[in-house]
Amino acid sequence: MAMRGVMMLFFQVLILCFQAKAWHAVRRSFELEHTTAPQEKLHLITDCMHVTSEEGEFSFVKLPPVRSTSKHGAHWMTPGVESAERADPDDPTLGAATVCGVYFVADPDQTIEVTMRQVNVDCRTGGLMAFVDGWELNGQYFPGERDHEKPLELRVQEFCAEQGASAGGGPWPPKTVGAASNAWVFRSSQNAALVQYRIPERGSFVLSARFHHNPKPCNIMAEGLAPYYMLRNYGLRRNCTLTALFPAVVSVVAVEVGEINESVRYCERVRMDDRLEVGGSVGLDPSYQLVRASTICGRSRGRVDLDQTILCGTTSVRLISSGRYSNQAMVTMRMADESDLQLATVICEM
Ligand SMILES: *[C@@H]1O[C@H](CO)[C@@H](O)[C@H](O)[C@H]1NC(C)=O
Ligand SMILES: *[C@@H]1O[C@H](CO)[C@@H](O)[C@H](O)[C@H]1NC(C)=O
Repeated sequence: MAMRGVMMLFFQVLILCFQAKAWHAVRRSFELEHTTAPQEKLHLITDCMHVTSEEGEFSFVKLPPVRSTSKHGAHWMTPGVESAERADPDDPTLGAATVCGVYFVADPDQTIEVTMRQVNVDCRTGGLMAFVDGWELNGQYFPGERDHEKPLELRVQEFCAEQGASAGGGPWPPKTVGAASNAWVFRSSQNAALVQYRIPERGSFVLSARFHHNPKPCNIMAEGLAPYYMLRNYGLRRNCTLTALFPAVVSVVAVEVGEINESVRYCERVRMDDRLEVGGSVGLDPSYQLVRASTICGRSRGRVDLDQTILCGTTSVRLISSGRYSNQAMVTMRMADESDLQLATVICEM
């Protein structure tokens, strides 16, 4: 009995502690950099898939390719030659239509605000940008299309610059395509957001990213650094997912899901409206082809530490809630390594 009391106390303290500060442990490594930079830090985007967990200004420039480097002065500066040197949009080797993106991931209890400062991405040459409320990879979205409170049309806002009138790159935004009136400031619903761009010929953009506190996080992109993650439904009828884009060892530390008097158990066979599902999938959206490792219901009184190793491209913990209960789950997630291979609970075909 004494042992049980200690465990319960430990759990309560744990809950209180990580409400108070666990998330902040994630960002500690970045804070050092921030103290030296009173003005916004400038990041140059060089990779097509640029993943960042930092705030600041981000800029990207694409110049038209120059095929021959000239030793005889500036022949490429003559206007006629310049247009001949431009990328041929039909040439697939140049990747003219490649879609690239800046992928933001903030702390679990943050949202992301992106302000477009400059957009010189010309609609007429096929240039296009989009802000995505979440992440997109190979046509799948995080949070999943069915899990987000907004339909996909409202989560993806496309824009580009019409530069006909003010040749030479007028100020942004002269016009936007398919976007709301205040299209230059975008805000995400969770700690993941994406700015996509397709710049076939030439163009540039500058954006600034700010993170804001999210008092009620539901869907969380895990970057694998937080000591604990917390999933909660706040008594609402909603599904909340914690997703990591790596094979992971997941430990369910504590759960309170469903009836208050039900003890914690696996509930694959009984159909429960309120449950916690742990599993993996090949793509980003776990509501497609989720390979389920376990389904957990009930209330743990103290730590339970239900471990599972998910060897899939994407690891997910889903809290499914009917709205009749206040559910929560405390979970740890770390990247799986070689020593975990033998203990794999599920393996996805890659
Ligand atoms: C939550 O997920 C379950 C199972 O995937 C589904 O049946 C239910 O409709 C979802 N609820 C909401 C509010 O999306
Ligand atoms: C839990 O309580 C509800 C009523 O509040 C009761 O219907 C149910 O049978 C109880 N379950 C268990 C396992 O005791």
